[in-house]
Amino acid sequence: MMKKSLLKLSVMVLGAAAGSVWAAGSQADYDPLKEPSGAAFAHICAACHGTYGYARDSAFPPLAGMDAQVFASEMKKFRSKERPSSIMSHIADGYSDAEIERMAQFFAALPKTAPQGGTKK
Ligand code: HEC
Repeated sequence: MMKKSLLKLSVMVLGAAAGSVWAAGSQADYDPLKEPSGAAFAHICAACHGTYGYARDSAFPPLAGMDAQVFASEMKKFRSKERPSSIMSHIADGYSDAEIERMAQFFAALPKTAPQGGTKK
């Protein structure tokens, strides 16, 4: 029962995200069969920021619904260490500008509040 509704939520959320990313047309050169999608990257972040960035712990800022430009600029500041963070600097270091942009589009396309009352950790 729980698993089923979580799966349904994931499908809804992913569908919404994919829809607006495609509609925005900002990823014209991106081939999802060759490179990981923003959604795939989001799984890596889920350990701390929650499933699809719906953080459940106040120690970690939520990423879902974050403005794409703010997201990208904060990630680049972590990468350059302009914004010092022992955790996020290491993580941001692993991503190219294009990958950061793909993640930015994914998280920005999500509603700030998880549909159906949220996901469980
Ligand atoms: C090991 C835990 C951990 C993981 C994994 C992690 N983060 Fe973070 N993240 C943090 C913490 C803690 C902060 C709070 C800011 C700080 O450390 O200065 C943060 C902050 C951020 C912020 C700034 C949010 C804001 O409101 O300013 C962004 C953007 C972000 N993370 C993106 C990501 C992305 C994208 C991933 C996956 C690729 C990721 N994080 C993976 C721990 C993590």
